[in-house]
Amino acid sequence: MCGITGYIGLNDAKEILLKGLEKLEYRGYDSAGIALENQDGIHIFKEKGRIADLRAVVDAKVAARAGIGQTRWATHGVPSKINAHPHQSLSGRFTLVHNGVIENESELRAEFLQDVKFKSDTDTEVIVQLVEKFAKDMETEEAFTKTLRLLNGSYAIAMLDTETPDTIFAAKNKSPLLIGVGEDFHVVASDAMAMIQVTDRFIELMDKEIVIVKRDRADIYNLQGEVMLREPYKAELDMTEIEKGTYPHFMLKEIDEQPLVMRKIIQAYQDGNGNLKIEDEITKAMLDADRLYIVACGTSYHAGLVGKQLIEKMAGIPVEVHLASEFGYNMPLLSAKPLFIFISQSGETADSRAVLIKVKEMGYKALTITNVPGSTLSREADFTLLLHAGPEIAVASTKAYTAQIAVLAILAFVTGTSKGASVNINLVKELGIIANAMETLCDAKEEFEQIAAEYLPAAINCFFIGRSIDHSVGLEGALKLKEISYIQAEGFAGGELKHGTIALIEKQTPVIALATQAGVNGSIRANVKEVATRGASTCIISMKGLETEGDRFVLPAVHELLTPLISVIPLQLIAYYAALHRGCDVDKPRNLAKSVTVE
Ligand code: F6R
Repeated sequence: MCGITGYIGLNDAKEILLKGLEKLEYRGYDSAGIALENQDGIHIFKEKGRIADLRAVVDAKVAARAGIGQTRWATHGVPSKINAHPHQSLSGRFTLVHNGVIENESELRAEFLQDVKFKSDTDTEVIVQLVEKFAKDMETEEAFTKTLRLLNGSYAIAMLDTETPDTIFAAKNKSPLLIGVGEDFHVVASDAMAMIQVTDRFIELMDKEIVIVKRDRADIYNLQGEVMLREPYKAELDMTEIEKGTYPHFMLKEIDEQPLVMRKIIQAYQDGNGNLKIEDEITKAMLDADRLYIVACGTSYHAGLVGKQLIEKMAGIPVEVHLASEFGYNMPLLSAKPLFIFISQSGETADSRAVLIKVKEMGYKALTITNVPGSTLSREADFTLLLHAGPEIAVASTKAYTAQIAVLAILAFVTGTSKGASVNINLVKELGIIANAMETLCDAKEEFEQIAAEYLPAAINCFFIGRSIDHSVGLEGALKLKEISYIQAEGFAGGELKHGTIALIEKQTPVIALATQAGVNGSIRANVKEVATRGASTCIISMKGLETEGDRFVLPAVHELLTPLISVIPLQLIAYYAALHRGCDVDKPRNLAKSVTVE
C-alpha cells in the first residue's frame, strides 16, 4: 500500500508530485505529504486526509526542482499529520518517503537507535534515522546501502539529502518502484500511471536494487554495489483509461467498461482461425497437474470460486480454492502434481505473493492471472495470463472480477479441449452473447438504482443468497455492498439458511436472491419463501427462462456456466447506488486501499 513519487529536473517539482500522488491515491489515502528541495533547503508539507487536503496546505510560492511525495495507507502508527510521510532525520539532513513495512524495526531501534528520540510512530522513521547515523562516517550512498542491507521487509523508498541536492536516492524490495526517464528530468513512482503525464519511458527496478537518480541519469546498483544495466521500456498507457472522463466515479466507468473488456479478452485469446488459444506451455502445465490450487484474496478469491466450477466442468481437473492469507500459514496436504494458480488484479498483493514464494521454494509451478503485465506476481510465477481489463482505479473491483472469470473460462475450455474432454460449449460465441447481455444490463442502471433505493436506504444489513454458482456470486455481491456502503452484508448458500443464519431475519431485512441455475431454481425459491415468511424484504434476480411472477429483475439468457459474468452486474450497480445514496466515497471507501502490499 502507499504510493510514492519523486521528481528531479528543470521544472517545478510541486505540481508533478501532487498530480502523481493523485493518480496513486488508489494505493492509500489516509494522509499525504511532499518534500521540496531548493536553494533554501527542504520544505515539507503534509496533512491527514486526501491529496486535496495536502494541496490546501502546500505553499504555492515554494518552487523547487527536486522533490519526493507519498500518499499513505497506515500500517504502523495511526493516520495523522505526524505519521504522514515524508519523515526527516534528527538533523533535517535526510528526508524520506517509503512504501512497505519494515518487519525488524524494533530490533533496529534497539540495536542502533537507542539514543534517538523518534518524532513519529512509523517504521519508516527508523530508515531515515539509520541513514543519518551511518552517514556520519561514510558517503550517503554507502550509508543508504548499509541501511538497506539491515532491513527485513518490504520497501520502495525515495530519499533527499541536503548535502547532495542534485540527487534522489531510491531503492526497492518487494514493493513496486519505477524510474521514469524524460528529457532533462527523471521521476520516481510506484507505478507508471502516476507519471504518464510527463513520460512514457520507465525503467523497472528489481528487488534489492538502489538507484542514484539525477536530472540527467539514473544509475542502478544491487546491494553488493554491482552496476545493473537496464533499458527503459515504453509504457502502453492510454490517458483516457486513467481518467474518469464524464463519469462521476471510476467505479461506474469500470462497470460500464465490462462489455468492452469481454470483447478485448475474446480477441486477445483467439488465434488467426478464430479458435481460443493459450500458450502451449500453460496448457501442458495444466494437463500435467493432478490438482489445481487457486490462491487469491477478496474479489479475486470470489472469481476463483467460479473458476473452480468452470475448470472442473470443462477440463475435468480437481480444483481447490484458497484464501492466500490462510494458505500461507496453514497449508493443506498437497497432491502429487499440483499446479498453483494465483489470481490478482494488481499482481502485487502481499498475501498472495507470500504463498507464491513458498510454493516456488517447494519446487512447484505457478501461473498468475493478473491485470498488470510485469507486476510482481506475474514476474515471479512461471506463466502469466493477462486480463486485458485496462487500469482498474476504483478500490472496489468490478471489471477485473468479470475479466478473471472470462480468462478462467478460456483456460478451462482450452485445457478441456486439449485433453480431448467433450467440452460442450462454443465459448467464443457464448462470450460474445455475454458481452451483449452486459451492455443490456449497463443500460438498465435506473432499475438497479431503484432497487437500491427501495431496499437499502435504511438497511443495517443485507443478505445475498444463491445456490451453486449463484452462491459464489452472492459472496461477491455482499463484498461489493459492504466495502463501499458500509452496510453489513453477507452471502449465504440458500440451503444453509435453516442451519443457523435464518435466525438473523427480521421484519424488512433485505434478502437479495440469485436464481440463474435451472437445477436449483425450485430450491432457491423455496429458500426465498422461508425468509419472506419471516418478514424479510426479498428481491429475486432471475434469468430469462427461469423467471416467475414477482421476480424483481430478469437477466438476459446466457450459458448456464457463464451466468456469474452477468449476474454480478446488478449487484455491482446496487452496491454503487446504495453507497451513493448514503453519501459514501464510492471510489475510495474508508480504511481500504486498492493494492494491498502488506500481509
Ligand atoms: C474488493 C477488492 C479486493 C481485492 C483483493 C485482492 O473489491 O478489490 O478484495 O480483490 O484485495 O486484490 P488483487 O486482486 O489485486 O490481488
